[in-house]
Amino acid sequence: MKVGMLTGGGDCPGLNAVIRAVVRKGCFHYQDEFLGFMEGWRGLVEDKSMVLDLESVSGILPQGGTILRTSRTNPAKKSDGLDKCIATLKSHGIQALIAIGGDDTLSVAQKLHEKGVKVVGVPKTIDNDLAGTDYTFGFDTAVNVATAAIDRVHTTAEAHNRVMVVEVMGRDSGWIAMYSGIGGGADVILVPEVPFDIDKVAERIQARHSRGRYFSIVVAAEGAKFSSNPESSHGDAVVSDLGRDEFGHVRLGGIGNLLAREIEKRTGFETRAVVLGHIQRGGTPTAFDRVLATRYGIGAIDMVHRNESGTMAALRGNKIVSVPLTEALAKNRKVDPEMIEVSRSILEGGPVDKHPVAH
Ligand code: F6P
Repeated sequence: MKVGMLTGGGDCPGLNAVIRAVVRKGCFHYQDEFLGFMEGWRGLVEDKSMVLDLESVSGILPQGGTILRTSRTNPAKKSDGLDKCIATLKSHGIQALIAIGGDDTLSVAQKLHEKGVKVVGVPKTIDNDLAGTDYTFGFDTAVNVATAAIDRVHTTAEAHNRVMVVEVMGRDSGWIAMYSGIGGGADVILVPEVPFDIDKVAERIQARHSRGRYFSIVVAAEGAKFSSNPESSHGDAVVSDLGRDEFGHVRLGGIGNLLAREIEKRTGFETRAVVLGHIQRGGTPTAFDRVLATRYGIGAIDMVHRNESGTMAALRGNKIVSVPLTEALAKNRKVDPEMIEVSRSILEGGPVDKHPVAH
């Protein structure tokens, strides 16, 4: 069979491991041929591709990024975009397509499936906020990078008697903040799921310092929301750029510095912010992500050969299963309430949200 493959959206450690696993299983077990489309959906719209064979995937397992490169191109934005994709697939004789991406990339996969293209998805995002699967690959790497950074920030915070705010990625959900915050022993963890009251955050830090602790660590997801934002009266997430990408997202960022200013103002403690940004997405995947990505790749090519379409490889418990793409796209997957409870159980002081959410 001739199979196409692409990686779309923000890059993610483990993308190359998926590509490699698909190609190896496809070549060794099914005698498939592969064509990789470059830069996400742009490769299909503009007909840019590369042959994927055993040679081209050799040595890529530990590499970050993606040999197919990526973009946030949305073909559904233009009236003839999806038809161009279909024409490109036809011209290359592609019988099935594997789309590796998050909700944006997979929403285009679903549209092509509805137009009769045979397409299977693989869930990718460091944010871990895709529904239908227990974990996306890349999340474990991002959490490990963030936790290692928090460990480093700890020693300098302690040396200088400072409050340190660490801003991590997490647009709509706080998985990275929650896991790295717990793993790194943060004193305050702020996630988009629970809008926080800045006065309560300051009170918690003050209470900790008054019992003799002279430094504190705050971990905040970039999408965490003030219940009333000091820089906007709407309590919205803090944005660094109001321009929108082709899927309609604004660029988040800036909450770390804003928090640092507001905490220092309220507590009088010297406060600094560290923004981890794309460091969390770059570099080599953890062993866990390499294994998970490999299992997803094998799952996807097996699904293609079971003649599936409109489905996604997913992790349920410790099994790779197939779920409808519509299930993955139905909603954004929020941090498990149980994890919010875990953080509340070990953090000092009361909740930092205005009206504590009951779980
Ligand atoms: O991949 C998701 C994500 O990491 C979000 O947490 C973040 O808001 C976004 O990507 C940043 O994307 P870009 O690379 O386009 O700045």
